[in-house]
Amino acid sequence: MAQASLPDVSTKPFGQDGKALDGVRILDFTHVQSGPTCTQLLAWFGADVIKVERPGVGDITRGQLVDVKGADSLYFTMLNHNKRSITIDSKHPQGKRVLDALIKSCDVLVENFAPGALDRMGLTWEYIHKLNPRMIVASVKGFGPGPYEDCKVYENVAQCAGGSASTTGFRDGPPLVTGAQIGDSGTGLHLALGIVSALFQRNRTGRGQKVLCAMQDGVLNLARVKLRDQQRLKHGPLTEYSQYGEGIEFGDATPRAGNDSGGGQPGRILKCKGAPQDPNAYIYFITQAPVWEPICDLIGEPTWKTDPEYSTPKARLPKLNQIFERIEQWTMTKTKFEVMELCNAVDIPVGPILSMKEIAEEKSLRDTGTVVEVDHPTRGKYLTVGNPIKMSDSISEVKRSPLLGEHTDEILKDVLGFKADEIAEIKGSGALSAPPKKEKAA
Ligand code: COA
Repeated sequence: MAQASLPDVSTKPFGQDGKALDGVRILDFTHVQSGPTCTQLLAWFGADVIKVERPGVGDITRGQLVDVKGADSLYFTMLNHNKRSITIDSKHPQGKRVLDALIKSCDVLVENFAPGALDRMGLTWEYIHKLNPRMIVASVKGFGPGPYEDCKVYENVAQCAGGSASTTGFRDGPPLVTGAQIGDSGTGLHLALGIVSALFQRNRTGRGQKVLCAMQDGVLNLARVKLRDQQRLKHGPLTEYSQYGEGIEFGDATPRAGNDSGGGQPGRILKCKGAPQDPNAYIYFITQAPVWEPICDLIGEPTWKTDPEYSTPKARLPKLNQIFERIEQWTMTKTKFEVMELCNAVDIPVGPILSMKEIAEEKSLRDTGTVVEVDHPTRGKYLTVGNPIKMSDSISEVKRSPLLGEHTDEILKDVLGFKADEIAEIKGSGALSAPPKKEKAA
């Protein structure tokens, strides 16, 4: 029997009893990448996400990196699935009227404007909280409170300020940024967890709260193993870094470790058959201690299993370069997929370096909905990444991103309940449409 105050377990089959965030409505004031990543996830979990965009322009990414003339860019479409779009000039009095109505009828406001921009629209926390005490106001900013809090920040700035760039790349080369958008998308993911937690707390308190994710903090959270290494330095060299085996002294900050494994298990990227002509004919190979013996057998060095110079992880540490060179002689005789097959058969952890082309064509990713083909009215079919979080009772379907202002009318009428004359008044004021283009001087 169900416990008092808890609902009975649903009798509907898994995946057929709504979505996790059904009933949650989001006022999505986000743009570019970090905020939209967050609200897209919430939309995949079933929240009704209403994206507010500037009339005539919309999210700036609609027109960035355009590949199909006249259509929303992939930059935009791939970050704004499952949302509705309304255009509002937030600085127009009638626009403010619509925004106030949205604040009253939504559960969460998500924004990633430059610091102070929301306040300048008149939407301070105090104002919003008074209008709707249950509302959660979630923000991405570049930095948290401190010397840089007023700065505008983009992905690579966050990667640099969060400790990722200084620890990425090769020791003798410059700092590097990574292709994975850990500053933007990474912070959006963090924010989504903050929002869901705040919704959970609101069930208890009845009160909304502010949720802030600074991109610097989000990146640092993802780079925490490097702060771990920073502190280990006080107690001696970082023995799993190749520079230890090369006899190169450590400085006073965590160095760049090339492709050394981030964990305690030595690993490297090694060439396979076809490299370097094929830029992705490589494999990540981990010489995990428990599988050292199968590694020796595979590469044709059976004596290394018992030779005290090689048989223990400690003995191997100063010789990692030589050991990986020997393993590479073997991997170069095979394709990355052959290495993968042979190694996995004996539990050796390896990872083929997959190109985006290979990922796009990978059948298993299509089968799980991680890579999805979506149809769009102005650009046609395109590939996107679906929800990477799979839930058995809240199954995500990926719906195309909205056109600019596509849902303005239905939101005014059905969500906000404005009457026809009110809608006419608001629209007539110009608050929801682009200002007329100025005529060119003769
Ligand atoms: N109606 C009227 N004005 C609107 C509007 C709307 N619907 N939507 C936005 N605006 C206005 C803002 O109020 C702001 O005006 P103000 O500066 O006069 O107050 C203006 O548009 C520009 O907004 P802003 O956020 O400053 O955009 P930007 O293009 O200058 O800066 C970022 C872009 C990303 C650098 C900045 O938003 C930022 O630092 N965000 C926080 C960190 C972040 O998320 N960065 C990663 C983005 S992927």
